[in-house]
Amino acid sequence: MKELVQQLNEQLTGKSAQEIVAILLQKFPGKVTLASSLGAEDQVLTDMLSKCDNEFSIFTLDTGRVFPETYTLLAKTNARYGITIKTFFPDYKLVEEMVNTKGINLFYDRIENRKLCCNIRKIEPLKRALPGYHIWITGLRKDQSLNRFFTELVEWDENYQMIKVNPLLKWTEKEVWAYIRENEVPYNELHDQGFPSIGCQPCTRAVKDGEDPRAGRWWWEAPEHNECGLHVKEK
Ligand code: ADX
Ligand code: SF4
Repeated sequence: MKELVQQLNEQLTGKSAQEIVAILLQKFPGKVTLASSLGAEDQVLTDMLSKCDNEFSIFTLDTGRVFPETYTLLAKTNARYGITIKTFFPDYKLVEEMVNTKGINLFYDRIENRKLCCNIRKIEPLKRALPGYHIWITGLRKDQSLNRFFTELVEWDENYQMIKVNPLLKWTEKEVWAYIRENEVPYNELHDQGFPSIGCQPCTRAVKDGEDPRAGRWWWEAPEHNECGLHVKEK
């Protein structure tokens, strides 16, 4: 597998994001899935996938705590592209146990609680979303955070034992928005209200002009913790 990762890196480096998704769909029929939080980058990738001739799949992890605006966008995106973004929910027993022992807003109390909530509401469902595919595509970009600067275009994901491809890795926020405008891609209306990066409602707030775009995510924690664990690498 690791040779395949190297091969793909060589083959895809220098190609446009649209070319990358088209090549992947052609090379791995039925085995490519996009992880979408309905964020701006994921919407760009959804648009690109929908412009390819080959079959593709998209899934979203519905934590149960996302914004109403995100559900509106999910419905709008499905209708616009004639697709069904597959939704994965958390295991209700795990959620019930967590909420009944630690409280509904446990994440504000301590970092362990926040990680537990992300594990139950995102990581466990992700482990059910990925099997059956060879490649997962994400909307990660290098300039989103220091943690993401060392991400590669094609990576071996040790946690999930599969290949991860980040076609927008070198895109800037400006390029993402230029694509959205040019292609009239549907986007979350919260982006127009000061939310550059959108996750769960209780863990996301608007940022001020000039503030780091991710400053509104888990703002009460130190910036090095600014990840939910979906993209954390094994040390
Ligand atoms: S997070 O780690 O801080 O939550 P972020 O919101 O920046 O991640 O999203 C980065 C990428 O992770 C997205 O482009 C998408 O591929 C994936 N992702 C994040 N949240 C979800 C989600 N709820 N469902 C599916 N994929 C997601
Ligand atoms: Fe829970 Fe917040 Fe993580 Fe969402 S982002 S799963 S609400 S801790």
